[in-house]
Amino acid sequence: MCELINYKGIFFPTLSTTLKDLNFIENEFQVRDDDIFNITYPKSGTTWVTDIVSLIHTNGDPTWSKTVPNWDRMPWLESAYVSDRLQNENSSPRLITSHLPKHLFSKSLSHSKAKVIYTVRNPKDVVVSLYYFSKMSVFFKEPDNFNEIVEEFLTGDLPYGSWFDHIKGWMELMGKDNFLLNTYEDLYEDLRGSVIRISKFLGKNFDDAIIDSIVEHATFKSMKDNKMSNFTLLPGTYMDQDKSPFMRKGVTGDWKNHFTVVQSEYFDKIYKTKMHNYPVKFPWDRM
Ligand code: A3P
Repeated sequence: MCELINYKGIFFPTLSTTLKDLNFIENEFQVRDDDIFNITYPKSGTTWVTDIVSLIHTNGDPTWSKTVPNWDRMPWLESAYVSDRLQNENSSPRLITSHLPKHLFSKSLSHSKAKVIYTVRNPKDVVVSLYYFSKMSVFFKEPDNFNEIVEEFLTGDLPYGSWFDHIKGWMELMGKDNFLLNTYEDLYEDLRGSVIRISKFLGKNFDDAIIDSIVEHATFKSMKDNKMSNFTLLPGTYMDQDKSPFMRKGVTGDWKNHFTVVQSEYFDKIYKTKMHNYPVKFPWDRM
């Protein structure tokens, strides 16, 4: 695992970012009204939304998604040098991804019309996805066992900080015209409906043929087979896909195959305490 840096109490992998970048993003980076942001807590469907937004951007033409890696199509704002480069970018709209918690995000977002797509996923499935990701990537510490990552997740002792703080921070934008709450569960249950919703949010009213093309190229199978989306272009020292593929399973509810009854009840107890009286209900709260 790579070294971590501490920015205002939150840890970040040194291989992805620097203190200088994080400070620049928070205080100096200028969000523009036509920016489109793909915001997530890690392992919540980031890559999926990147491909959907890329395909929307090209009106359903998959050429761009099949020839340019996702990190260049919709770069991570916090990646080293990216914010600097984006600051001088002339093309519009800028498509930008970020895992940053809201309180460390660019202050300039607050008075902008930039569109934010915030994607959330059942936190138990996030834990499972993180568990496998930590085995194959240098960005997260591999836990000794599954219990350890459950504990770290619940205490927020992970790179990018607490899932609970991430959700509560970004959900403060709920209800604003430029904020779209998207869930992994909706994408999974109804990809077509989700693509239409995201397209409309981005101001595009596509005909059926274009929607069909976006859906076709955003399925798990298409993305798993696309080396511009599945991270196999990265060296094995960053992500060792022999240990676990990045495009691992792509389903909802895999937590049931990993959590013991005791772990699940413990998780639910802490979840209920931390989300007590929270006004928004997510798909997993209803199950
Ligand atoms: P699993 O590990 O559960 O399979 P992120 O992009 O935020 O890192 O999230 C990665 C997770 O999203 C992985 O979950 C990956 O398989 C899943 N994913 C990516 N593209 C997907 C798609 N088209 N359909 C379903 N799941 C997808």
